[in-house]
Amino acid sequence: MVAAVGAGASGADMATLTILGIESSCDDSAAAVVRRTEGRATVLSSVVRGQTALHAQFGGVVPEIAARAHAEVLDHCVEAALGEAGLALSDLDGIAVTAGPGLIGGVLSGVMLAKGLSAATGLPLIGVNHLAGHALTPRLTDGFCFPYLMLLVSGGHCQFLVVEGEDRFRRLGGTIDDAPGEAFDKTARLLGLPQPGGPAVEIEARQGDADRIALPRPLLDRPGCDMSFSGLKTALLRARDAEMAAAGGLTRAARADLAAAFQKAVVEILREKTRRALALYLEMSPDRPAFAVAGGVAANGPIRAALTALCAEAGVEFAAPPLALCTDNAAMIAHAGLARLAAGEADGLDLSARPRWPLDGEAAPMIGSGRKGAKA
Ligand code: KG4
Ligand code: ZN
Repeated sequence: MVAAVGAGASGADMATLTILGIESSCDDSAAAVVRRTEGRATVLSSVVRGQTALHAQFGGVVPEIAARAHAEVLDHCVEAALGEAGLALSDLDGIAVTAGPGLIGGVLSGVMLAKGLSAATGLPLIGVNHLAGHALTPRLTDGFCFPYLMLLVSGGHCQFLVVEGEDRFRRLGGTIDDAPGEAFDKTARLLGLPQPGGPAVEIEARQGDADRIALPRPLLDRPGCDMSFSGLKTALLRARDAEMAAAGGLTRAARADLAAAFQKAVVEILREKTRRALALYLEMSPDRPAFAVAGGVAANGPIRAALTALCAEAGVEFAAPPLALCTDNAAMIAHAGLARLAAGEADGLDLSARPRWPLDGEAAPMIGSGRKGAKA
């Protein structure tokens, strides 16, 4: 049920709105306070408690462990976020919470907490799509205007979205299997490098020859913007085994060459698919063409450099939100909730948690479910 909460949220001055955000869809418990004054949103606080150590020994996120950890720490995150902002619950105008997509137990932990806070305070409850939180972040950090193109690329997500409005998204394509972060993490495991794998593989790759070992570029020969990374990982496993058989073990040089070859393949796949997505986006003749990349994999130097160069060639503004706002956080959830709060909309206490919640209902559903939950 979607309820209207009147012209002014909680009777607050519409010029200024202060909203709490809660995020728990994967392995980060987070809370944040965002304030919008005269159309400009500012992050007053953002608290993130990661769970990497809890899942490390299992080689991936264990949904039950994640859900329990969220239930244990989320209220502390909320307290800390309010404390850092110097505010009390009574200073807020609304509560935004990730209602999906993600690991259902974790999403439920956040939704139940938000419902409890809303019921206790009478503050409007706003269910937010986690992917919308990521996709709208360039408006918060870089003042992007609609429509802009977005590449979400992390351990759980990989998709191109044209962001046309606060709740209008067009998916141009995405991974049909693993997300690139997942592939980086698996590659690190295969090469005996530490987790999270992305930074470790990037560092290792600097010492390697990216051209000595040939790895495939899955789906690059097919039209469109869809991507695939699971075949690349299998090819890497075979190449590693061949190197080990030839040398009687994995030499330092072979490990660096494998890391470099893998990273080069990911860079080339992302560059070519982004080039195609940009061409489709530019057909819309946007007034101020702009592209943003977000998600943990956006931290990768060679990937960032390739996308920056591509945008410069195409005359498109490039932005990558600061890492703290482009990996999972609750400020993006609070920010995404602001538009609905300002419009006087809210959800009822029957708000449901959704494991799958595609941003673009008209796009073909994504296949499979990664280690970080269902793909949207
Ligand atoms: O956005 P994020 O923090 O969490 C979610 O996946 O939702 O992204 C984490 C992912 C991990 O798979 C990690 O290995 C990858 O981002 N990552 C990187 C780099 N830094 C983090 N991948 C490649 N290069 C990096 N420098
Ligand atoms: Zn995310």
